[in-house]
Amino acid sequence: MNTPIVDFLRSYTEKNAVRLHMPGHKGKISVPTDYDITEIDGADFLFSPSGIIAKSEENAAVLFDTAKTLYSTEGSSLCIKTMVALLKKVGINKLLSARNSHISFINACALLGTEVCWLYPNGKLSDISVGEYTAEDIDKALAATGCKAVYLTSPDYLGNMLDIGAISAVCKKHKAYLLIDNAHGAYLKFTKKDNHPITLGADMCCDSAHKTLPVLTGGAYLHISKDTLQKFSELSKSVMSVFATTSPSYLIMASLDSVNNYLSCGKESFVKAEQKTDALKRYLHSLGFVDISKEPFKITVDTARSGISSEDLVKCLEQNGIKSEYADKSAVVLMLSTMNTDEDFDRIFAAFKSTARFLGKANSRKFDFTLTPLKAKMSISKAFFANSEDIPTENAIGRICSDTKTVCPPCVPIIVSGEVIDENSLKILKRYGIFTVSVVK
Ligand SMILES: Cc1ncc(COP(=O)(O)O)c(C=O)c1O
Repeated sequence: MNTPIVDFLRSYTEKNAVRLHMPGHKGKISVPTDYDITEIDGADFLFSPSGIIAKSEENAAVLFDTAKTLYSTEGSSLCIKTMVALLKKVGINKLLSARNSHISFINACALLGTEVCWLYPNGKLSDISVGEYTAEDIDKALAATGCKAVYLTSPDYLGNMLDIGAISAVCKKHKAYLLIDNAHGAYLKFTKKDNHPITLGADMCCDSAHKTLPVLTGGAYLHISKDTLQKFSELSKSVMSVFATTSPSYLIMASLDSVNNYLSCGKESFVKAEQKTDALKRYLHSLGFVDISKEPFKITVDTARSGISSEDLVKCLEQNGIKSEYADKSAVVLMLSTMNTDEDFDRIFAAFKSTARFLGKANSRKFDFTLTPLKAKMSISKAFFANSEDIPTENAIGRICSDTKTVCPPCVPIIVSGEVIDENSLKILKRYGIFTVSVVK
């Protein structure tokens, strides 16, 4: 029998590419497979810990300065379902959420019957994952909807960051809980300025440790603030267990445990990586590349504004041995971490230097669109579980979407279960090459 996955991985690792994609360990940690055990005597239980797992999670809670930090071996996706379920446990069934939410949030709402009041971005967008929301936007939306919880993504996939401090103050004014999808920002606790959502006033947040820290894929945290309802901490383990596997990976838990030691050594490696990335960002700017990321460890080249096609940039980087995280028609995303070496940085500088000759050669192709509020005719949950059929997007105007349609990555919705497909969403679906949708029968 052939082994296509193993073959791909072998061939990729043999190329020794500079990895500017997840996970944050960049292939530079080693994992002893004999650590892959199950919950044997003495190894504790992830969902009722009292031994080694409890101790390790307490260490993480100290590092992140939280009331409670829970490990997930199933990514932020599990933490997001847990956060939405914890709100339901305290009687909150309706949330205010920015439209650029990850699919795991919408899945949580479908499973739990939670309703969403969507906040749409203003003006033209060049990418579905972008969403710039101010404290004032949140203030107005909370006043209009009466929601008692807000769910926002920061940083987003392209590196935009919200003013969590100001938004938190607004949420407190409205007595609304603030949940942050910080999947891309675990490292923000350790950069020169502590920009972690819990520090800035969020009640709960998820961090995909694996995206930006030297942790195995799947390793994530659910953080609960010291300043929020104690009940969230009390209920969190049992609520998380409802959605989780009963066989959590000890390899992932071991990598979360060992990263505690790495993080406890101080901020030096983070500050150094931040400085190196900043120097790289400045160099790209001097060459004429337009970087739109506000994140310290992420570079997002706006290819349209830089005058180069995304395809050409990705190809040039690959010819120089550099693998990017993501590219679409208007942007190329590069994710750095403390595990990128000086040699990696030298190769990245050299690659961009040799790529700069293509700048300005491509027509700046604009793919801007506007997201207009869609009418919901059914709840997310009802439409998701309704009898459905797949039809060509072309014939879908006026039909109710059953299965949320996202662009993946970044797994952000164009149209959500329960919403009526209109002309504008049809245009956006086509722009992203989506030609079939599932609609309620
Ligand atoms: C913004 C955002 N939130 C949540 C997730 C889910 O994270 P995980 O893969 O750790 O489950 C992702 C994954 O890419 C993401 O980009």
